[in-house]
Amino acid sequence: AQLHDLATRAGLLYFGTAVGESASQQDQAYRRIIDDKSEFGQVVPENGQKWESTQPSQGRFTFTQGDITANIARQNGQYLRCHTLVWHSQLPNWVRSGSWNRQTLTAVMESHIANVMRHYLGQCYAWDVLNEAVDDSGQWRDSVFLRVFGTDYFPLSFNLAKKYDTETKLYYNDYNLEYNGAKTTKTVELVQIIQRAGAPIDGVGFQAHLVVGSTPSRTNLATTLRRFTSMGVDVAYTELDIRHENTPLPAPASAQITQGNDYANVVGSCLDVDRCVGVTVWGYTDKYSWIPGTFPGTGDALLYNSNFQKKAAWTSVSSVL
Ligand code: XIL
Repeated sequence: AQLHDLATRAGLLYFGTAVGESASQQDQAYRRIIDDKSEFGQVVPENGQKWESTQPSQGRFTFTQGDITANIARQNGQYLRCHTLVWHSQLPNWVRSGSWNRQTLTAVMESHIANVMRHYLGQCYAWDVLNEAVDDSGQWRDSVFLRVFGTDYFPLSFNLAKKYDTETKLYYNDYNLEYNGAKTTKTVELVQIIQRAGAPIDGVGFQAHLVVGSTPSRTNLATTLRRFTSMGVDVAYTELDIRHENTPLPAPASAQITQGNDYANVVGSCLDVDRCVGVTVWGYTDKYSWIPGTFPGTGDALLYNSNFQKKAAWTSVSSVL
């Protein structure tokens, strides 16, 4: 059987993938597997709903890119995860380098959140309201939002999101939470700040951009997920990929087996934790992964190779589900 069907039988809500906007429109072989709901019961736009795509200049909203994946979800009856509203990256210059104060930046955030959430109202299973607000050393990440508001923009973002969509699940989303270090501890604090302010937060997304051979064990991953579920929120793996580092590509069979074991640890840990709702891979084929472009010399991080053939990692995920 295919991954989403296996995942739901194992008690998850979905197994999903990010959708590359241009590949989904230009590559039929790519699209065919996206459209297989037994394989992917949930989709998320890789780039199309980000601020630079949805409001490239002040007051001009464009949903063409975001709608590509939203339409795929509707046509196939797949869950749509929506990504993302408040983020320091892929944030247009007019926001990034505007000279804002609390009042003017609140108005900008409210207008953005209102317009984007209203456009997708009723379509999003979950929204990544706030993305990557903690840096890798476990400090609050510098951004225009932090400089204007301090940590007050955490509850502000979630309160605004709730105002414009009362139904969707509101998520905080970040990477490197999986290692359970200083960044994870700071993220626990972030959730507490939101909760103590009386603002609504429903979930924490673990991006899980991981490395073959350095992925934590299933037990350790489950322990880390429980640091968040014990605060009363759902968790999910939202952007899973596991890249080969210091390995000649295509990776030798032994490295591909290790990669499969790492994938099984991640998916298995979600099965082990009540309130881990699902797993989303950040693309499914090595043909279109963002990894080689962002981490040069690394790659082959996904479940299918560039010829759309299932890799050992696919088989390993299917066996753990
Ligand atoms: C990445 C996309 O995959 C790339 O195509 C884009 O150039 C940059 O962003 N964290 C996130 C995702 O939340 O939105 C990022 O996606 C990967 C890291």
